[in-house]
Amino acid sequence: MMPWLLLFVLLFVDTSLADKPEEPEEPEHVSGCYNKNFSILLIEASPSDIPDPAKASVYFTPSIPAGPQRLVLENGQLKDNRYNLVSNKSGLYFEVPQLNAEDQGIFSVILNDIDMDNETFSLTVTECAHLERLDYGSNFSILLDGDILEFTRRGSYLEPALLWNRSDPTVSERGRGRVVAGHWLAKNITQSDQGNFTLRDVKGKAVSTTVLIVTETKTYDYLKMNEDLVIDLPFSLSKVTLLFHPEIAKCNINNYVRPRVLIRDGVLVLEEKQSYEGRLKMSNYQIVLEKFQIADVGSYHVHDPQGNLATTVEVEILLPSEAWKVAVLPVVGIVFMLLGYYWKSKGRTCCKGVTGPMAA
Ligand SMILES: *[C@@H]1O[C@H](CO)[C@@H](O)[C@H](O)[C@H]1NC(C)=O
Ligand SMILES: *[C@@H]1O[C@H](CO)[C@@H](O)[C@H](O)[C@H]1NC(C)=O
Ligand SMILES: *[C@@H]1O[C@H](CO)[C@@H](O)[C@H](O)[C@H]1NC(C)=O
Ligand SMILES: *[C@@H]1O[C@H](CO)[C@@H](O)[C@H](O)[C@H]1NC(C)=O
Ligand SMILES: *[C@@H]1O[C@H](CO)[C@@H](O)[C@H](O)[C@H]1NC(C)=O
Ligand SMILES: *[C@@H]1O[C@H](CO)[C@@H](O)[C@H](O)[C@H]1NC(C)=O
Ligand SMILES: *[C@@H]1O[C@H](CO)[C@@H](O)[C@H](O)[C@H]1NC(C)=O
Repeated sequence: MMPWLLLFVLLFVDTSLADKPEEPEEPEHVSGCYNKNFSILLIEASPSDIPDPAKASVYFTPSIPAGPQRLVLENGQLKDNRYNLVSNKSGLYFEVPQLNAEDQGIFSVILNDIDMDNETFSLTVTECAHLERLDYGSNFSILLDGDILEFTRRGSYLEPALLWNRSDPTVSERGRGRVVAGHWLAKNITQSDQGNFTLRDVKGKAVSTTVLIVTETKTYDYLKMNEDLVIDLPFSLSKVTLLFHPEIAKCNINNYVRPRVLIRDGVLVLEEKQSYEGRLKMSNYQIVLEKFQIADVGSYHVHDPQGNLATTVEVEILLPSEAWKVAVLPVVGIVFMLLGYYWKSKGRTCCKGVTGPMAA
């Protein structure tokens, strides 16, 4: 008991010492986005009184390039037209419009009011990237609020490709997308479109970056014996490759079994002809596997001609012999769920494909 008490007292004494006002103040780390406005609250407004700008002064010490401390706001008077003083319902703000790298540094706010604390801020300016995750086949659009749009493919070390140039309308004709109502639009996107889309102004400064991530569409299907499995393609695709990972193979935990290639570049592979000829049909929009059997349980993966994974379908089967279980589904469901958790916790999701009633 005693050591704990001692530790507590020590911690308490320590923090109470750190809180003393005489201690030199650690700057608060803040960050802003390139080309976005940044503001520091100088004096908070209260219903009883309007902030008096004359009480506030601000010093700025640039860090890039490093420079001496400058007085930029003196008792409410701006000393540098880089900045603005903004007053609204919530208070009086010191504003740095359209941030750039040179705005980085330390801002010290001095308030000549005994009731208000001085504050220091250490500002870092970053190119705020916006992450966008979309499904394979979606449309992707970017508001063109800049002058140049560049694309760097994910994992590429090549120079960015120019997709659009406001002053040169012929550029977009060569690119992947096109300009529609002030937006740059790409349809039917795939993993090949993954990467950074950077908008720049005329001077070449980055306005914004959108990081695009594309993932395959994923569906789950539950079939009865002899039903048809229909795999819809995200958009019209010819020469796809279809891989099948049988559920049975997943049971074989000691021995990794590679998924089987059923269709390669739009053609049924020779080794699979016997099992699938006449039963596996394809068009540019669909793949249909007729008369679904227990041996067909597993997952199906469709790759586009460029090798991108377009869609994945996980299929389970509802056995006729198990149909009676549907009647007692609430009980069976719970049992299966518990078993499922048990199997999962044991790292085995073996043969779950035939536990049909859960699917109903
Ligand atoms: C007042 O201006 C600041 C800085 O521009 C902003 O963050 C804040 O939301 C504004 N408040 C109101 C009530 O408009
Ligand atoms: C950024 O600051 C500029 C200059 O004060 C102002 O005209 C503009 O409206 C501000 N933008 C936003 C989003 O607050
Ligand atoms: C704020 O800084 C000024 C100038 O360094 C100083 O005179 C004043 O006492 C400080 N205010 C507080 C509340 O510490
Ligand atoms: C993509 O946009 C077109 C219109 O430009 C629309 O017809 C189509 O349905 C959209 N596709 C998706 C997947 O939203
Ligand atoms: C894309 O942007 C992110 C965030 O700005 C950055 O971390 C990444 O390195 C960029 N990738 C490429 C290929 O430029
Ligand atoms: C955009 O087009 C203008 C006019 O043709 C040209 O001067 C400028 O260099 C182009 N910008 C880029 C980045 O290619
Ligand atoms: C994109 O998808 C739409 C709808 O699925 C289709 O009509 C169109 O042909 C596709 N475009 C391309 C370029 O593949």
